[in-house]
Amino acid sequence: PRVMVLFGGRSGEHAISCATAGGVLRAIDRDRYDVVAVGITSDGRWVLADDDADHWAIRDGRLPRVEDTATHVLLPQGTTDREVQVLRDGVLGAPLGAVDVVFPLLHGPFGEDGTLQGMLELADVRYVGSGVLASAVGMDKHMMKLVLAGSGLAVGPFRVLPPGREPDAATLDAVVADLGLPLFVKPARAGSSLGISRVDDKADLADAIAAARVHDPKVIVEAALFGREVECGVLGGRSGAPPRASLPGEIVVTDARHSFYDFEAKYLDEAGVTLSCPADLPDDVVARVQDVAVRAFEAVGCEGLARVDVFVTPDGEVVVNEINTMPGFTPYSMYPRMWAVSGLDYASLVDELVGLALE
Ligand code: DAL
Ligand code: MG
Repeated sequence: PRVMVLFGGRSGEHAISCATAGGVLRAIDRDRYDVVAVGITSDGRWVLADDDADHWAIRDGRLPRVEDTATHVLLPQGTTDREVQVLRDGVLGAPLGAVDVVFPLLHGPFGEDGTLQGMLELADVRYVGSGVLASAVGMDKHMMKLVLAGSGLAVGPFRVLPPGREPDAATLDAVVADLGLPLFVKPARAGSSLGISRVDDKADLADAIAAARVHDPKVIVEAALFGREVECGVLGGRSGAPPRASLPGEIVVTDARHSFYDFEAKYLDEAGVTLSCPADLPDDVVARVQDVAVRAFEAVGCEGLARVDVFVTPDGEVVVNEINTMPGFTPYSMYPRMWAVSGLDYASLVDELVGLALE
């Protein structure tokens, strides 16, 4: 089959998406799949991209980017003509041919949020991962919590600051009175901890809200959750079988300069954080985390894959922090590592995901 590996994109997680694509381009079985690499520039152009994995690594703190190669890729329209077209310097070139499945390795808005999924639905092309609604719900931390809580899953206390209204002093006071300190201020729709601040002092709350608003006019404020930060991978079931959960992993922030698992600790500071995989947890807690992860996947209506991030509180309660419908997927990322310790190596995982999309 022909697989379009699609990456980059308009969100703040452009570079992370490129790094994820590098991992997949390296691992995908080229004897089995005819791979077409398509990058989306940060202003939204679809271009034919280098399919050499080395091009897309994060190296020495340098973040990869998709450049405009002036070979613009156009998806088919309608259900009869399946040709993917290429405009070279604005002139229609030889068509690329039909694509059997798109692997959208995109994180954040315009990739992981249902918009791209809607475009692929319109183009009548199969794709890996969640559909329009689950992607949109998974992207919006407010909607996500409503859906998870509505399905009986534990989520932490939060407040939403809607777009377009500056919170006045009374609102800021009420947020702190309600949620306590420290608290976390987050753009409702972003990823990789972009725009997130931890607030320990009420005087810093207004600035934190402004920083989140750079990424999204809608802001969510969450109470701090205490406990161990644990993640669990979920993979869709084959032929109608239920979704499967991996062994959980744990995030251990080892450097006090990171007051939480921030962007730098995630991608740039190798020493700042340890991914402990599998997490050293009692069997009954592992079982509970896996059960919550599968229930979260089903509650949101995910397909293909998701990573469910939870806190395990000191008394053993599993509280969902969030679900990511296109989790980081470099070979060093938690999602593939959790599957590797669960018996599915990176290349097999890629194969399984493409297989699920083609089913
Ligand atoms: N949003 C990042 C890529 C993650 O969830 O891993
Ligand atoms: Mg997360």
